[in-house]
Amino acid sequence: MRKNVVLIGFMGTGKTSSGRMLAQRLGSAFIDLDQKIERDNHMSIPQIFQQQGESGFRTLEHQAVLEASQHASAVISTGGGTVKDPHNMKALRERGVIVCLRASVDAILDRTKKRGDRPVLDKADEGDRREAIEKLLEERASLYEQADFVVDTSDLSPMQVVDKILRFLRIRGVIHG
Ligand code: S3P
Repeated sequence: MRKNVVLIGFMGTGKTSSGRMLAQRLGSAFIDLDQKIERDNHMSIPQIFQQQGESGFRTLEHQAVLEASQHASAVISTGGGTVKDPHNMKALRERGVIVCLRASVDAILDRTKKRGDRPVLDKADEGDRREAIEKLLEERASLYEQADFVVDTSDLSPMQVVDKILRFLRIRGVIHG
């Protein structure tokens, strides 16, 4: 059994697209936590935030983390705020190696400009979205630093990101060949 590869990082850093491609390259299962939460609860993330608030969402997210952490040899893409709960990180780390994707504020702004998908940012839309991103990034910086490996995806395609992660996994002995 191989360790899980867990992708953490801020919204818009490419966790879902790189994670899906990484899973394909490794021939392993891909679990996207946000998609799992939506499927398990028959609601979109914005609907969950609307009906249950952020704390309700975090409870469902924690449940999804506990279930996903039971896998082995999977690629798990987390949500940008999954790192906020130390219990989540403990569970994910038990069977996983943690890779953080990061990106510049400009890249994040560009990749998250579609409204309606990300309630944590949409909340700040009346104000300055750039400022909201900078503030959240600062608040969460130390949480993202818990990773075993960091890739800056600002100027990379998902394929280039995946190549970097694969190189790291080989060096770490998580995968061979
Ligand atoms: C969140 C990020 C989102 C999603 C939810 C909350 C956050 O995931 O889990 O909207 O607090 O940063 P993505 O990072 O996949 O957008």
